[in-house]
Amino acid sequence: MCGIVGYCGARAASEVLLEGLKRLEYRGYDSAGICVGSSGTDFELLKRKGKIRDLREIVGKDVAGTFGIGHTRWATHGEVNDINAHPHTSESGDVVIVHNGIIENYLELRTLLEKTGSVFQSDTDSEVIAYLIEKYYSGNLEETVRKVLPLLKGTYGIAVLHKNEPGKIVGARNGSPLVLGVGNQEMFLASDVTAILAYTKNAVYLNDGELVTLTSEGYRTFDIHDTLIQKQVEEIGWELEQIEKKGFDHYMEKEIHEQVASIRRAFQGRLNKDSATGHLGGLNMLPYELLQVKRVVIIAAGTSYHAGLIGAYLIEKLARISASAELSSELRYKNPVVEHDTLYFVVSQSGETADTLYAMREVQRKGGRVLGLCNVIGSTIARESNGGVYLHSGPEIAVASTKAFTSQLAIFYILALSLARMRHLSVEDGLRIIQALEKLPDHIQRILDQADKIEELAKKYHIYNNFLFLGRGLNYPVAMEGALKLKEISYIHAEGYSAAEIKHGPIALINDTTPSLFLVPDDALRDKVITNMKEVKARNGRLIAVAVEGDTEVADIADDVFFIPHTDEILYPFLMVVPTQLFAYYCAIELGRDVDQPRNLAKSVTVE
Ligand code: AGP
Ligand code: GLU
Repeated sequence: MCGIVGYCGARAASEVLLEGLKRLEYRGYDSAGICVGSSGTDFELLKRKGKIRDLREIVGKDVAGTFGIGHTRWATHGEVNDINAHPHTSESGDVVIVHNGIIENYLELRTLLEKTGSVFQSDTDSEVIAYLIEKYYSGNLEETVRKVLPLLKGTYGIAVLHKNEPGKIVGARNGSPLVLGVGNQEMFLASDVTAILAYTKNAVYLNDGELVTLTSEGYRTFDIHDTLIQKQVEEIGWELEQIEKKGFDHYMEKEIHEQVASIRRAFQGRLNKDSATGHLGGLNMLPYELLQVKRVVIIAAGTSYHAGLIGAYLIEKLARISASAELSSELRYKNPVVEHDTLYFVVSQSGETADTLYAMREVQRKGGRVLGLCNVIGSTIARESNGGVYLHSGPEIAVASTKAFTSQLAIFYILALSLARMRHLSVEDGLRIIQALEKLPDHIQRILDQADKIEELAKKYHIYNNFLFLGRGLNYPVAMEGALKLKEISYIHAEGYSAAEIKHGPIALINDTTPSLFLVPDDALRDKVITNMKEVKARNGRLIAVAVEGDTEVADIADDVFFIPHTDEILYPFLMVVPTQLFAYYCAIELGRDVDQPRNLAKSVTVE
């Protein structure tokens, strides 16, 4: 959830840590801190409630030190304040730690330590780690950390310093990501590669149960029994400029605009006109294995779940394979029936979402074959799944997911096309779908070119406190996604519903202060949706519609309409979602919200 950075080398550690934390801020941003040292001097620990810019204010230029650790927090235990911010120290101050995750048995451990006289300073679960390391310190930090880890229940990514061993960081991972950056006479440690990209492209990804010691000279990876683990150094595929705002005011705005290119990338090399089908090599499955698939289950959370709902609908419609999408947090605990002819897909932008990771492991434990759809290369889900596909959307930094969503859709369309072509879909129909898919980036560009129209709508509608987003069929999950975007970044309450379903209850909410945003493609359900619009209008509801160019009937009924280009009826989710992303973005701007780092949220939710 949070961000961890560590550095050993010759540079000013405080600068490297602050820079790294700034890059990781999207992972959590309620408080932050650093601790730096150099041979023969005391540690300097500075931490503070608030953002990295607030921390920067108290880190003066004279904070010397060539090694250290830093943290940006997303609180799970203990309120957000200066004391609970990380790093945490042991009672004497000799041990300093940063922790990402949750120590589930911290109360038990804390009570035991208190019985022997320990006095704790914070309300966090993390602090016990520092106290335990101090208690068991043997003169060798690696050995002590190895001894302490089995006492901890829960999840952690940790980085530890000890005053007696300057220039050394010990890290360990169990459930929360950690990656090493290998430089020249300098080493980095981080929760993800964005923190180290400015310094090195050489990364070593730690697995659960692995520990690492780093000094400026190099690193050593080992396990709890001190068995040496040889790890591969992998090249980071992202460029530094991909994580810059490049002239946009916010990452979210930039990422909405990047969709023209990111969708193109998702299709690249995966659509074959000669055979009128799609090809996803990473699935590691032979055609005859794919032909035996009788059911598809898609597992995900949040925006990725909404993409999964569309994927399931499409696979069932196009490939005639029974398909459903499940919330990972729910699936994990419902003792799911796992069958050999079912194909499981886990969808996760970050590849680190705890709910999704644990659901995946549960399905794997039961013998299911799980394929991953991830964006972050080398992420835990990408590595632990039994095959999968990368989205290639490039780094997504804004907490509200946009371009990852449309790339997830792109992959599901390729998948559905391939599965359908293996069954009954003709060459002509396959080709028609490919041609329509290839036009999508241009259509999206046309929508983006009219962003000012959506901005006008936001200026008019941001004053309302409640919204309904309504769609049907493939566009019903788009309505859910549009509502989620609005909630997340503007804090306006919004519900995403099936347009047909509102008469079974939510229509009671309709009045002239609860606008409804209708998604109206020119598909088989268009007339039914128009009827639903009229039902709302008859009850004094305000109507915004996203409709297809030339649809004057919708324009006449709605108070406001935004037109999108015409496409194949199954492809509308791509074009419907972009206006809703822009609408949420501009409403948030009108309301003065922190668009990229909305309150209470974090990009990658690595706790349950
Ligand atoms: C999206 O805008 C959200 N912030 C959130 O719902 C997100 O989609 C969810 O946490 C899942 O994340 P993942 O795709 O990285 O697994
Ligand atoms: N559980 C710890 C805390 O609340 C760490 C949270 C985090 O991962 O940021 O401080």
